[in-house]
Amino acid sequence: MTTTIVLDCDPGIDDALAIAFAHGHPGVELAGITTVAGNVGLARTTRNALSVADFVGATTVPVAAGCATPLLRPALDASSVHGETGLGGAVLPDSARGPEGEHAVDFLIRTLGAAPGEITLVATGPLTNIAMAVRREPRLTEWARDFVIMGGSAGRGNMTPAAEYNIWADPEAAAIVFDAGWTVRMIGLDVTLRALATPPIRERMGTLGRLGATLLLPSLAEYHDLPDPAVHDVCAVVSVAVPEVFGYTAASVAVETTGRLTSGMTVTEFNPATLPNASVATDIDVNRFWDMVLRTYQALADTLG
Ligand code: BDR
Ligand code: CA
Repeated sequence: MTTTIVLDCDPGIDDALAIAFAHGHPGVELAGITTVAGNVGLARTTRNALSVADFVGATTVPVAAGCATPLLRPALDASSVHGETGLGGAVLPDSARGPEGEHAVDFLIRTLGAAPGEITLVATGPLTNIAMAVRREPRLTEWARDFVIMGGSAGRGNMTPAAEYNIWADPEAAAIVFDAGWTVRMIGLDVTLRALATPPIRERMGTLGRLGATLLLPSLAEYHDLPDPAVHDVCAVVSVAVPEVFGYTAASVAVETTGRLTSGMTVTEFNPATLPNASVATDIDVNRFWDMVLRTYQALADTLG
C-alpha cells in the first residue's frame, strides 16, 4: 500500500536525506515539498529542496516556498550544524526549474483539500507553515490523513537543555499546531538520537554510487550534529513508510512559549487526564530502521548510477 505525503521541510542535511528516502521508498508517494526557513534561510532551503529533488530523480515533484521568518520571533538558523549552504559538504547542481508560483501555505491547503483523508502531512522543520495553514483553514486538521513531525522531545532538548531545534525555532507556531485538534505523531529526539549514521552505516553508504558519493557521504561528513550524526528527519518519513519501526505512546504535549530557560520545550504528559493530542514515538528498532533505509537508498542508487 502506498501513502501519499506532502513534506514540509528546511533542507538541511537530514531533510535532504528524508527527501531521498521519500522518493526512493515504494510505499511513499511524494506529492509535493513545501519549504520553510529553519536550518538556513528560506531562499536556501527552497534552492536545496529543488536541487535535492532533481538529483534523486523527483523532477516532477512540485516545490512551494513558504514562510521566511517564524511567527513572532526573529529568524535564526543552524548553519553552524548544517553548513553555510545547508547541505554540509554536498555540492549539487542548481535546479533548472524554480519553485511553484503559489505560497506553501496555499499549496498545503489546496493539495490536502483536494483529497480529504488521503494525504499524510510530514513536517521536518519549524512549524511556521503548518501553523499558518491551520489558522487559515482549520479543516486542514480533518483533511490530513495523518500528521507527522520530526520535532520535540519528551526528555531533554538539543538546542537548549529543554528544547529541540524545530520547536525552539518557532515555539508559537508549534503551540498552535499541537493545539489544533488533531493527533500529532511526534517523532522526537527520544528516538531520533538513536538513528545514528555510525561508521559501519557510512561504509555501506559508500557503496551506493552517485547517491552515496555526491549526496549522502559529503553531506554527513560536514554535519556538525554529533560525532555519529543522527538522521532525525529520515525517521519521520520512515514512520509513514513502515510505522512499526517505532513504538508509540499516547500523550498530552504542551509547548512552552514563555519560559526564560525552557522556551520551545515540549512538555509531555504520558498519563493525561484529558484526551491525548499526540502519539509520541518512544521506541525504535534501530536495526530494522537502517536495514530499510539502506535498502531504499540502494534501490534509489541503482536508478541513479
Ligand atoms: C532537527 O533540527 C534540524 O537541525 C534538523 O534538520 C532536524 O529537523 C533536529 O533537532
Ligand atoms: Ca529539518
